[in-house]
Amino acid sequence: MAQEKTTEEKIDSLLEQMTLEEKVGQMNQYNGFWDATGPVPEGGNAAMKYDHLKKGWVGSMLNVVGTEEIRKLQQIVVEESRLGIPLIFGYDVIHGYKTLAPIPLAEAASWDMEAIEKSARIAADEASAVGLNWTFAPMIDISREPRWGRVMEGGGEDTYLGSKIAKARIKGFQGDDLSKPNTIAACAKHFAGYGFAEAGRDYNTADIGTSTLFNSVLPPFKAAIDADVKTVMNGFNLLNGIPVTGNSFLQRDILKGKWGFNGFVISDWASIAEMVPHGFAENLSHAAELGTKAGSDMDMESSAYVRHLAQNVKNGKVDEKLVDDAVRRILRVKFELGLFDDPYRYCNPEREQERLYHDDHHAGVLDMAMKSIVLLKNEGNLLPLAKDQKKIAVIGELANDKNSPLGSWRLASDNNSGVSFLEGLKSYTDEVSYARGPKIFNDDASFLHEVQVNSTDTSGMDEAVALAKDSDVVLMVLGEHGFQSGEARSRTHLDLPGLQLDLLKAVYEVNQNVVLILMNGRPMTITWETENIPTILETWQLGTQAGNAIAKVVFGDYNPSGKLPMTFPRSIGQIPIYYNRFSTGRPDPEPNVFWSHYVDEVNDPLFPFGHGLSYTQFEYSDLEIDSSDSKNVKVSANVKNSGGVSGEEVVQLYIRDKVASVVRPIKELKGFEKISLAAGESKKVEFVLTDAELGFYDHNYDFVVEPGSFEVMIGTSSQEGLTGHFKID
Ligand code: NOJ
Repeated sequence: MAQEKTTEEKIDSLLEQMTLEEKVGQMNQYNGFWDATGPVPEGGNAAMKYDHLKKGWVGSMLNVVGTEEIRKLQQIVVEESRLGIPLIFGYDVIHGYKTLAPIPLAEAASWDMEAIEKSARIAADEASAVGLNWTFAPMIDISREPRWGRVMEGGGEDTYLGSKIAKARIKGFQGDDLSKPNTIAACAKHFAGYGFAEAGRDYNTADIGTSTLFNSVLPPFKAAIDADVKTVMNGFNLLNGIPVTGNSFLQRDILKGKWGFNGFVISDWASIAEMVPHGFAENLSHAAELGTKAGSDMDMESSAYVRHLAQNVKNGKVDEKLVDDAVRRILRVKFELGLFDDPYRYCNPEREQERLYHDDHHAGVLDMAMKSIVLLKNEGNLLPLAKDQKKIAVIGELANDKNSPLGSWRLASDNNSGVSFLEGLKSYTDEVSYARGPKIFNDDASFLHEVQVNSTDTSGMDEAVALAKDSDVVLMVLGEHGFQSGEARSRTHLDLPGLQLDLLKAVYEVNQNVVLILMNGRPMTITWETENIPTILETWQLGTQAGNAIAKVVFGDYNPSGKLPMTFPRSIGQIPIYYNRFSTGRPDPEPNVFWSHYVDEVNDPLFPFGHGLSYTQFEYSDLEIDSSDSKNVKVSANVKNSGGVSGEEVVQLYIRDKVASVVRPIKELKGFEKISLAAGESKKVEFVLTDAELGFYDHNYDFVVEPGSFEVMIGTSSQEGLTGHFKID
């Protein structure tokens, strides 16, 4: 009996049969352009695209959802095109499909890789149930830029944490077998440097030196490749003068060369065409040539490849081998997804009915949401509230909002499908009175429509202040609207939008028992708030179960355990501010003015990376270091829950390589463990540092480990812990 062909052999034989136009077709991705369950388009662009589907000139579609719709489109291609190569259907499943988990930045605050993996699993389960087989997630852009709206989509500022999260999310989406009907291909994006958009303005240029590029920006992508991510998306930005979409150093030399990535690269939306306004390509045809040469395998909505690439090959500008390589990569992922065995394997209407908003998913995102909350401050232990607490005032528009806490990037979810804070609270107690205060946000804000903010109309203020005056405790829910962060939502001010700070001050004047519950998609400059308000709970945008999760924390049924994945600045002028900075030559205060500081602000952040409190206390002691084996340096500490209730702590380990040929940051996270301790319980937590943790990339992108002295810290945040030293030879 003839042996079954391997996938590579199957791809070879397909490539042999394909015309040049059909090959280029595989590299073409269209946005959903027509309701496939309706009449066939008869004119214009839609008719042309429909014709392309039938000719096999489309390899993928995005923004088409639903088993019926997807089956129909797949059928056209499979039954009517010459070779019947199935489409791959992609979508932005960023933090859930219908049932929403917290925004990714919030999830990062959990430092809980198991929970994050589960959350991605839930998203994949729902997305695959509606026929999708590919998500454009995770976004793993490291960013130190809270002005940049897309920080909500990522894992924050740190490379080590970001790399772990990348791995967890990819595992969650892709599972252990991509051909299962409930797993989907993941996409590590945006390769690379998008998180360094100048001045935090979206789509802006990134200029990144080699040390930062190699040591901070690229490692999460390397981790994604090691986790077998199937696709990578490039981006809109220039990196050091070259659009990343046309960047062969990134895509050919590093990604496909040095790292051996064998999946495919998708461009970002129209980013091939955007190389023209960037001033890199002369016209769309030139952009197609440059994109292909640089290793951008699939063209998202530029129509550059489908219109010009075949011609570029015919006139000798592009070697057909490059096209073959791109097609091979795309076909490989389709084979791995099982689409050649059954192109409709994701199109099961019963599964679609059953999986969306499944009870298990609600339970999963609730758990994730509780774990994502960070207790920033709790002076006088205002929280948790006693279950029989009387006269609770709830103030702020966001408290009664079922939409905003869903956050941005939730294209498929239903409006107002979240549990508001007020609803969550009322499931605990009737002792709640609510006053909205001034209306701050317009009700029709959406992914496509910018949020309008009221900074003038104070109606509602007096009523809120009167309620606060007559209450025992005030829970103020303030922050950003869910659509104030995300793509194209850069801000130059990071304070509470509109009249919210005025409201907070007015309330605080009549009642000091204020708990500030923040909802926001990025770090904020809440300096007055931190100096005055006794208790602050960071709840980000927590998704479908937001209100229930916050209520559980407010009443102590869940003890907060989150830690900030991004530094909170005191003022915008400090940005970029991040914990793993370099020392200047003049780091310490001097009697004269000539040291590295501001004349009008301290250097320290408002809240450092890794910060987060609990309703209990953790004491660190007994730092032990064993560096007898330079390849396995053991560092441990004892952590004791010295408070009155059980709790979880994220034990963090930082190092500093004291002297190096390329200077190392003053601190770098190189280990963490989330532990759970009953009141009074202690645990020894041990980390092992190997070359992977002790080395770094030099300017040639070689990984080196240099002998010498290291500082080490084990503690509760990037700013607080037990410190010691060791040497390696
Ligand atoms: C543009 C965004 O930058 C990218 O992240 C997203 O996946 C695509 N649009 C598709 O919606």
